[in-house]
Amino acid sequence: MISRLYQSSLKETLFNALVECRRQTWKLFEGMDESTFCCQPHPDFSPVGWHLGHIGYTESLWLLEHSGGLPCPFPQYRKLFAADGLPKSKRVQLPDLEETLYYLDRVRKQVLQRLEVVDVAQEEPLWRFLIQHESQHYEIISFVLQLIQGEKLEIRNMEANFNSVSAETNLTEMVLIPAGEFERGSDDVDALDNERPAHKVYLDTYYIDRYPVTCGQYRLFMEAGGYEDCQWWSNTGWKWRQRESVVAPLYWSMDQLRDNHPVYGVSWYEAQAYSRFVGKRLPTEAEWEKAASWDAEAGCRRFYPWGNESPNAKYSNCDHLIGNTTPVDAYPSGQSAYGLYDTLGNIWEWTGSWFEPYDGFQSYPYVGYSQVYFDQKHRVLKGGSWATRPWGLRASFRNWYYPHVRQIFAGFRCAASSLSKIN
Ligand code: AVJ
Ligand code: FE
Repeated sequence: MISRLYQSSLKETLFNALVECRRQTWKLFEGMDESTFCCQPHPDFSPVGWHLGHIGYTESLWLLEHSGGLPCPFPQYRKLFAADGLPKSKRVQLPDLEETLYYLDRVRKQVLQRLEVVDVAQEEPLWRFLIQHESQHYEIISFVLQLIQGEKLEIRNMEANFNSVSAETNLTEMVLIPAGEFERGSDDVDALDNERPAHKVYLDTYYIDRYPVTCGQYRLFMEAGGYEDCQWWSNTGWKWRQRESVVAPLYWSMDQLRDNHPVYGVSWYEAQAYSRFVGKRLPTEAEWEKAASWDAEAGCRRFYPWGNESPNAKYSNCDHLIGNTTPVDAYPSGQSAYGLYDTLGNIWEWTGSWFEPYDGFQSYPYVGYSQVYFDQKHRVLKGGSWATRPWGLRASFRNWYYPHVRQIFAGFRCAASSLSKIN
């Protein structure tokens, strides 16, 4: 009886998550014209229409074919929408929006029928994976749209008072994190393969910025000629900066309306150069996670920096609630136990770490999700952005990209081992 009850409430939870996740995915496509649907603004990213079809295909592959043993409902889409089907340059010839919506609806109908009969307790991680998979593509769709629409999006919600910070806020403040063990990663049912297993890590004392680096702070680096001075850059970073003729972050605007917002649209190389310019460095992934999630007094990690309540407008700028960045001190209730602001939401944060497996890593549900990226070529990002859906927001979540990528909604904060060299 108990397991029956559990099953029915679990089914309801998953049902609601599937529906709510999809509802917001649709919102991004409302009234979209066909040219936007198929547009590829940058060769590293597929058109938004491809991401939409791929959401449907992945759901059908895992929940209908693999778990349900059902035939592939639309085999004609396999090659086009599978992650390993076509190169990105070939993903521009797509069925139109209407046809793709029809495809996703048909898959979804079957998936919900399957949810009614499946022993869902056995399959919970897979269902949760699919919800997170859609959430991740939702965010990719968001930044591909921002690339296409560019400036138009920049001015959303930019009233004059939307840039102020409190008089007490000291934007350059660093927080001391005392030496000691903490637990990182997660074994919770929604933890993805790369977050597992949870394990203890010891860190020496370090300092970490209370706030992400703001546009106003980053402007000082630009005005001091930071982009022209190779002493701040790594060798590969400097080569990249010259080859690409980069002189400002991708989403940079000169109007100072954003001075107290986090800088974003920066590559890992820019984050690294700025950190060196101020006498600091990027935090390691472990340093970031400890400062964001460890509650030293309670001796345990928090699921969210602020506690256990799911992300909402009180704690974090996420889920397109605002549709843009916010000043870095706008969410005092969202502070971590150590007092860091804005760890989840607003912008993703680059860390100094390569994307690597934890000891005991086991690939799930397929090697192409995480394992193929353990190549010492991808850097870890933590936190989540203003466009991250709640199912992808948690302190243990690990995102990763090549260090030259700037289209994602990513900024950073700095760390230091001691305060002696800081400018
Ligand atoms: C975690 C965002 C790096 O885009 O490759 C989507 C997410 N994986 N489908 C990616 C993902 C498979 C992944 N990132
Ligand atoms: Fe995918």
